[in-house]
Amino acid sequence: MSDNAVVRVNGLNKKFNRDLKGSFTSGIRTLIGGAFKENPSKLKAGEFWALRNINLELRKGESLGLVGVNGSGKTTLLRLIAGVINPTSGTIETRGKIAPMLALGAGFEPSLSGSQNVYLNMSLLGMTTDEIRSSYDAVVDFAEIGESIDAPLGTYSTGMRMRLGFACAVHTDPQLLIVDEVLAVGDASFRVKCRNKINDIRKGGASLILVSHSRLSIEYLTDRAIYLQKGQVLAEGDSKSVLDAYEADQTRATREKLNSRDKPSTSATSIETGKKITIDHVRLLDNAGHEIEQIFPGEDLTVEVAVTAHEDLDECAFNVMFKPVVEPVVYHPSSTRDELGWVQITKGRHTVRMKFDPVIYLPGLYSIRVNISQGSMMDILCHVEEKSVRVLRPEGKIIRSHYIPPLHIDLAGLAVTAPDPEDVDFEGAEDL
Ligand SMILES: Nc1ncnc2c1ncn2[C@@H]1O[C@H](COP(=O)(O)OP(=O)(O)OP(=O)(O)O)[C@@H](O)[C@H]1O
Ligand SMILES: [Mg+2]
Repeated sequence: MSDNAVVRVNGLNKKFNRDLKGSFTSGIRTLIGGAFKENPSKLKAGEFWALRNINLELRKGESLGLVGVNGSGKTTLLRLIAGVINPTSGTIETRGKIAPMLALGAGFEPSLSGSQNVYLNMSLLGMTTDEIRSSYDAVVDFAEIGESIDAPLGTYSTGMRMRLGFACAVHTDPQLLIVDEVLAVGDASFRVKCRNKINDIRKGGASLILVSHSRLSIEYLTDRAIYLQKGQVLAEGDSKSVLDAYEADQTRATREKLNSRDKPSTSATSIETGKKITIDHVRLLDNAGHEIEQIFPGEDLTVEVAVTAHEDLDECAFNVMFKPVVEPVVYHPSSTRDELGWVQITKGRHTVRMKFDPVIYLPGLYSIRVNISQGSMMDILCHVEEKSVRVLRPEGKIIRSHYIPPLHIDLAGLAVTAPDPEDVDFEGAEDL
């Protein structure tokens, strides 16, 4: 390995068996090896390549992002580099202390106290008792566990366990951090704290390999990225261009999926509920009334919903959800009910326009789901998800996630009744 390399992966292949029995027997064969050793380059029935011909080198201080859809092999690659599992063929060399954050708190012992677990966990990560003692306060402080640190770990919530696991791992003075998705858990302020801590460790000269479905995390924390597809490297380069390539594929796949869906007027929901109402179309419009597929953050967006009501309907609401295609978050900022009360939809055709004024979202691709609900239990009468909008990234600007709900709703003459003050409030949009 060259002088400043921290990780070098050469011609790495990993196969798995889809069924449990096959996994078990091939695991035994790997263990006993020798005479029973099979040809590693051949697949047997039920086996598949989880990773195929992976080559990479990570130098001191570099940070690498891994992106790809579910099941593309990201976690497998991290587990191989962390030494949790062995490759089928190829080599992996690492140098220095590794802090793997794969399944945070997985090694914790529930009957021991939080504090005993800190000693246990950090010694497994290669720290001496003296080293643990000197960083103990910082760990407990970071994890925000407070007095519960002396309670048995079994009494901790999942969030507390993850916070403690993260705190232990980041206080081991690692040369390489291997992070799998952990930034997506915990509450919003802890996630920011984790991101900042990882950034501090990076600035201190450590290297980082990060798997995340969050564009923000990959862009903020990594210089270089690899796009994995079905276990193979599809693209590699600076993080922004790799993310663009990944998102372009996601956009194409989403559009194909949306296009192949049933037309809204025959949507299953409408039929099941006796066709009280159908959505004829959804269009995304700019201020000039032109259909659009992309906008810049801060621009206005009008969601036009044309419906045919087959009978008079009381207590209705038009709802729009923005679902980021890449990130596991749903924004559901709009219900006309919040603003206006219930909409009375009379039998016949109506075209309703909800103007988001302006839409301020993180850049990325959003699929737009529209539904019409009825009553305070929000029975969904019909729904459609056939459009998507790309929020573009303005050059040189940093966009934070937040929304402004629609201020202008054109109900095309439909009447409105006041909401019942007893009704439950809508949840706000989730922050990143
Ligand atoms: N121990 C195992 N035995 C058999 N198959 C496995 C094993 N571990 C992972 N796989 C399979 O290998 C493939 C890659 O899984 P992996 O967990 O690496 O994906 P991933 O990219 O991390 O996905 P995600 O985004 O959902 O976390 C998947 O098809 C998965 O089902
Ligand atoms: Mg994974």
